[in-house]
Amino acid sequence: MAKVGIMGAGSWGTALSLLLYSNGHEVTVWSISGEEVEMLSREREHKSKLPGVKIPEDMRFTTDMEETVRGKDFVILAVPSTFTRSTAKKMSPFVEKGQILVNVAKGIEETTLMTLSEQIEEEIPQADVAVLSGPSHAEEVGRKLPTSVVVGARTKETAEYLQKMFMNEVFRVYTSPDILGMELGGSLKNVIALAAGMADGLGYGDNTKAALITRGIHEIAKLGVKMGGAKESFMGLTGIGDLIVTCASVHSRNRKAGYLMGQGKTMQEAMDEVKMVVEGVYSTKAAVALGKKYGVDLPIIEQVNAILFEGKNAKEAVYDLMMREGKAEHNAKPWN
Ligand SMILES: NC(=O)c1ccc[n+]([C@@H]2O[C@H](COP(=O)([O-])OP(=O)(O)OC[C@H]3O[C@@H](n4cnc5c(N)ncnc54)[C@H](O)[C@@H]3O)[C@@H](O)[C@H]2O)c1
Repeated sequence: MAKVGIMGAGSWGTALSLLLYSNGHEVTVWSISGEEVEMLSREREHKSKLPGVKIPEDMRFTTDMEETVRGKDFVILAVPSTFTRSTAKKMSPFVEKGQILVNVAKGIEETTLMTLSEQIEEEIPQADVAVLSGPSHAEEVGRKLPTSVVVGARTKETAEYLQKMFMNEVFRVYTSPDILGMELGGSLKNVIALAAGMADGLGYGDNTKAALITRGIHEIAKLGVKMGGAKESFMGLTGIGDLIVTCASVHSRNRKAGYLMGQGKTMQEAMDEVKMVVEGVYSTKAAVALGKKYGVDLPIIEQVNAILFEGKNAKEAVYDLMMREGKAEHNAKPWN
């Protein structure tokens, strides 16, 4: 049995707490919100985020960060990516040298273009930072539906330790040394999910969605490999796997925000309606900047950026994508 601290009592933090609890671990869950802690301790259910999923009486919720972090075998960071750095900064005094921290959020910092694990390492240099990512909607993990993810770590030992801690008959965990590729796949897929939602909102069909997913992962992989990620990560669970689930699922807030924009709402109206942080909006700006920095052409991502921040009409963006100069799909094989 391990002692686990979980930072963030939203959908994903709660679902992962339940998973680790069911694996026999002792779980303490932190939230910044006293109201959320009080509600979860009383109701024993996250009615707005994981309705119908019961939370055991001996799972502890608290606003005390020190209690959640100090002396734990590992700590999960499950706050939305826009709060990862500020949360890490506050956690730092309680983290021991070599303590394992597992980031499960997805995003890139707009101002620095840093991944989340890079931000955590900057704020908590003494930590052993790992990531968990893949196609895993909290609503389905909470209902114990079979799910497969990847744990990435700096050492094989940490990755295999975490694999053992999380894995069970409904939650399969692979290991990977490619933290960078995993994090780029996990954050950039949210930009393509916005585009897929927009296509749905415009009333386009399965052909359009398949094209966005396929050409979307092509863009993500092109940039990600140039930045140092492994191609296999983009072709695996944390790349194409996560992209498929996010573009297809009713649970995806990025797809939903895109859908509302496809129907004519502005970015702000869509974000207000979704009511949760739409991380793809922030990742879009970062992705465009990374494309420029690494000299990689990102046509879909650039059109999403134009819709979000330059007031471009979504239909016009699709037209512009379709009417780009004709190209070869790839150059992997020479012509005869
Ligand atoms: N929901 C999912 O299915 C899922 C799956 C995989 C990964 N993720 C990733 O996990 C992360 C968290 O997602 P979520 O769905 O649990 O989000 P959420 O919006 O449901 O939860 C947010 C949590 O963060 C807390 N919070 C709010 N403001 C804060 C602040 N200023 N500082 C610190 N904490 C604050 C809230 O109190 C709450 O506990 C995201 O990066 C998301 O992409 C989510």
